Amino acid sequence: MSKLYPVDPSFAAAARLRHDDYTRLYAESVGDPEGFWGRIGERLDWIKPPKKIKDVSFDPQDLHIRWYEDGELNVSANCLDRHLAERGDKVAIIFEGDDPKDSRRITYRELHGEVCRFANTLKHLGVVKGDRVAIYLPMIPEAAVAMLACARLGAIHSVVFGGFSPDSLAGRIADSTAKVVVTADEGLRAGKRIPLKVNVDAALERPGTNSVETVIVVRHTGSAVHMQSPRDRYWHTLMEGQSADCAPTPVEAEHPLFVLYTSGSTGKPKGVQHSTGGYLVYTSYTHELVFDLREDDVYWCTADVGWVTGHSYVVYGPLCNGATTVMFEGVPNYPDFSRFWQVIDKHQVSLFYTAPTAIRALMREGEAPVKQTSRASLRLLGSVGEPINPEAWEWYHRVVGDERCPIVDTWWQTETGGILISPLPGAIATKPGSATLPFFGIKPAIVNADGEVKDGVAEGNLLITDSWPGQVRTIYGDHQRFIETYFSAYPGNYFTGDGARRDEDGYYWITGRVDDVINVSGHRLGTAEVESALVAHPKVAEAAVVGCPHDIKGQGIYAYVTLVAGETGSDELRKELIAWVRKEIGPIATPDYLQWAPGLPKTRSGKIMRRILRKIGENLPDQLGDITTLADPGVVKNLVDERLIK
Ligand code: PRX
Repeated sequence: MSKLYPVDPSFAAAARLRHDDYTRLYAESVGDPEGFWGRIGERLDWIKPPKKIKDVSFDPQDLHIRWYEDGELNVSANCLDRHLAERGDKVAIIFEGDDPKDSRRITYRELHGEVCRFANTLKHLGVVKGDRVAIYLPMIPEAAVAMLACARLGAIHSVVFGGFSPDSLAGRIADSTAKVVVTADEGLRAGKRIPLKVNVDAALERPGTNSVETVIVVRHTGSAVHMQSPRDRYWHTLMEGQSADCAPTPVEAEHPLFVLYTSGSTGKPKGVQHSTGGYLVYTSYTHELVFDLREDDVYWCTADVGWVTGHSYVVYGPLCNGATTVMFEGVPNYPDFSRFWQVIDKHQVSLFYTAPTAIRALMREGEAPVKQTSRASLRLLGSVGEPINPEAWEWYHRVVGDERCPIVDTWWQTETGGILISPLPGAIATKPGSATLPFFGIKPAIVNADGEVKDGVAEGNLLITDSWPGQVRTIYGDHQRFIETYFSAYPGNYFTGDGARRDEDGYYWITGRVDDVINVSGHRLGTAEVESALVAHPKVAEAAVVGCPHDIKGQGIYAYVTLVAGETGSDELRKELIAWVRKEIGPIATPDYLQWAPGLPKTRSGKIMRRILRKIGENLPDQLGDITTLADPGVVKNLVDERLIK
């Protein structure tokens, strides 16, 4: 039996929602989705209010997902203009730099001015509604300004995480045929400089990137960078003389707000395309309720804007709600392991949202770095990105939150736009390691190995049986892949790619990915991507990659590599291949283990049996199951004997 943490009555007393509210609203939301989401949609300022609320079919033959489709609005007007009268002088963004001496507060009025000026800049460069703009920036306020400026014009942004390599950036630019790239001279992480502009230059040498007309460079560290005329322009020079007045372009609710590339089990990363109206309704509503937002909160989500968490819960949800949101450029252990807690004290953060991998890394350093800070401003803690193990949950609760702060373990995905399963802190008792219950309008289902949907206590694949406004609408440029990826395994349902268990209280426990996607430090990676990076090396004949347990990262990357004839595995070559993958994809894809494999376990039809490789990587050689169907069962013994985790 897992431990149950009841809702603290004093928290519940002041909370937006209590248990009865949850039960009532959940029943209403799934009983009458149109009525419910019609009412919730009124939280936005619509230029043309919608009359049609929901038009959805999950049938693969007739797949369409439309919410508020006859409505018109502008996201940046909702995140900025409508706050000016009441909250013009309220701080919208607190920037905390990599260097603790570097911080900045930007009010809603100032942010509005900057966004308008940058929107005018983009307009001046010929960006119009529907154009794609790639954003490859560090976690600095200009990232939010650029996103909101795109939204102001109805341009579609594609934010690429600053840790991705030139090749990864090039692939994303090419797929979205971006017209403009917004970058910085350099990023900063733990005092080290990240050569963003150099990476952009390298990316734009790659084939398929000639859609880019202009590169806008934010001067961040001030280092000299090569500026190629007339393509490259400095942000500050372009902004000079631009008016702080720019009328927001009305767009249809279904107009794409952004594309964000994420890894799947096969092929190259796919452009998850989100809508304008439904996305903003859903992210702002979940942000308000899951974090029990109050007017005077200081909210800090540590995610980078390069990931969906940064889109929905650093920028759009919080700003739509008129909240104060912290943008942090640094890392948890720089200058020391107390940084997070120092930032909380410095800015009086009340709501804090981070990833289990960070919690585990900090937990390893003991309590002292936490306890030397006050953290008295905190009133709620959140977790996102991967399953949180109960030990880390308990530590977060006891040491960071002084047993005072509820924890919201929020399960969701790039594709879901916002949080789908999570406690509401004043309403739902928590169990360490469980994301608890579905948010309003979310209908999860569990199918067992026989493909039967199970009620009550169950374990299997997690599906969502009906749509919600924040859902992905398509894969950019590949609607067929969208249908195949999410709606063909269980026709009529959205397949999450995750496994889950539902307990006797109806609580959900996410068990992790059931496809060939691994979750490294809360970042999604396709094993196929790492494999294709490896086989691109001239000395590699074949590679297979699986996830393996990792104390801090949750999952690590375990690669099996077969070299071309005549090559032998050495420590040097191992280092070279690991460095190669880092260069090809980015540091997050660095293999933790690389084992030489004279042969890989394959079926007679030539398919690699990853199940076996996973078990070897997990150091479970006695759980390999049936290996008699392999073309050459003999290869297994060598792999087991030479395994790197014992
Ligand atoms: O496996 C689930 C895991 O992260 C995956 C989604 O990754 P991504 O699209 O990068 O989005 C991450 C941020 C929302 C999911 O399929 N995941 C995310 N949150 C949780 C989680 N697993 C367990 N518990 C969570 N709270």
